[in-house]
Amino acid sequence: MFEVRSSAIAAIVLGAALALPAAASAEVPKNPTFAKDIAPIFQDKCEACHRPDSIAPMSLKTFAEVRPWVRSIKSRVENRTMPPWSIDKSVGVQKFRNDRSLSDEQFATVVKWIDAGAPQGDVQDMPAPKAWPEDQGWNFAAMFGQKEPDLIVKSEAFTMPAVSQDAWDKRLTDAGITEPRWVRAIEIRPNTVKGRRITHHAIAYLEQEDPGAQQSFLPTPFMEWAVGKQGELQRPGTGKLLLPGAKFHWDIHYSATGEEITSQVEMGIYFYPKGQEPKYRTSLSLVPAALGTMDIRPNTLSMSEGFFTLRDNARIESFQPHMHLRGKAMQVTALSPTGQQTVISYVSSFDFNWMTSYQYADDVAPLLPKGTILKVTAWHDNTSAKKSNPDPNQWVGWGDRTVDEMAHAWINIVYMNDADFKAEVEARKSAGSTQQ
Ligand code: HEC
Repeated sequence: MFEVRSSAIAAIVLGAALALPAAASAEVPKNPTFAKDIAPIFQDKCEACHRPDSIAPMSLKTFAEVRPWVRSIKSRVENRTMPPWSIDKSVGVQKFRNDRSLSDEQFATVVKWIDAGAPQGDVQDMPAPKAWPEDQGWNFAAMFGQKEPDLIVKSEAFTMPAVSQDAWDKRLTDAGITEPRWVRAIEIRPNTVKGRRITHHAIAYLEQEDPGAQQSFLPTPFMEWAVGKQGELQRPGTGKLLLPGAKFHWDIHYSATGEEITSQVEMGIYFYPKGQEPKYRTSLSLVPAALGTMDIRPNTLSMSEGFFTLRDNARIESFQPHMHLRGKAMQVTALSPTGQQTVISYVSSFDFNWMTSYQYADDVAPLLPKGTILKVTAWHDNTSAKKSNPDPNQWVGWGDRTVDEMAHAWINIVYMNDADFKAEVEARKSAGSTQQ
């Protein structure tokens, strides 16, 4: 067995934010009130989904709306199922570009407020209502000085009946690309306000003949979207490559709302100007804990693991666990060429309903030297303890249906030569020393 160490390993650089207690300066108020302390937190972390015309079942904007839900809020916040964010807070990198979880102080403030009887406080203290974009605009267009994205790809119209079980739309759309283009940003949005109410999440998988890709046979996730997250900017100097013939294979999760709604999902793609190539190509790798076969016995917990060797120095950009209804947990560990182990991320409470790609913040995205092995460990819970388990008495094998299982991580990697890697490591170290 290896010794597990999370202390500094010469070449594995996770940055200053590894397991630091979050913002030690912020304080939990003595007597929190809704108006003064809670409303700003809910605006920041809940309203994206909990407001009229969004995906969640109730709005949490006003005291009157929140009051009937406080018991449920306490239990969902305490068991960390709300906001949906399955990263374990006790180990691994803790700083993400798309973090929607509560900070430690926010968490403690909400619990303290409810324990004290959830007082409203002085309405004078209420923050101004948060403005949410109702105009269905494209967020990045203005930033790039454009009216619209360079390419808009639409899924086919889908009609969700008023009452129905959840549905998944997995149809294919041609991208209409005639020459190779480098992508610098992507946005996804349901095409109408009503569409937002039924669209739980959407993944666009890219299918293209790509001799340069490590695993050209598989459709790879191109963009993952859930409520509250609209777009994804590539890190400076990096891009994804679209090739002629590219197709998008959608995986859109719709939920019924009591009203029949027809919707489409639109993906807006922004290209680097022609002739301007980013320095690095982001390559997405499927790192399997299991692939092709699995043997999950009834009423048992099972574990599988797989290994993936980095062919060059690398920066790890993001991690997305992929399992189905019995998926319980997944961990990515870096095994350095000298044998030390460093946990990069641990998703301890995987939830099939929230397919999240965890995107490391710029200053902590792990830097790993050539020859590092990524170990992916997946746990499945085929017992009645797993709420989403449809039947713990079934044997389960590997397969595509949600009642079968899978166990792999999607990991976005940028490979670098020695000189660039060294420069990144040095830059990270000097930034880290000024931060602390
Ligand atoms: C990314 C979207 C999203 C965010 C952010 C989010 N929620 Fe939710 N929430 C949902 C959805 C969808 C449901 C319904 C499905 C479910 O129960 O899991 C839900 C359900 C709930 C429930 C259970 C309601 C019931 O039926 O008992 C509570 C309580 C809750 N959310 C509180 C919160 C609080 C408090 C926050 C912020 C601190 C928050 N949520 C942030 C999407 C979200």
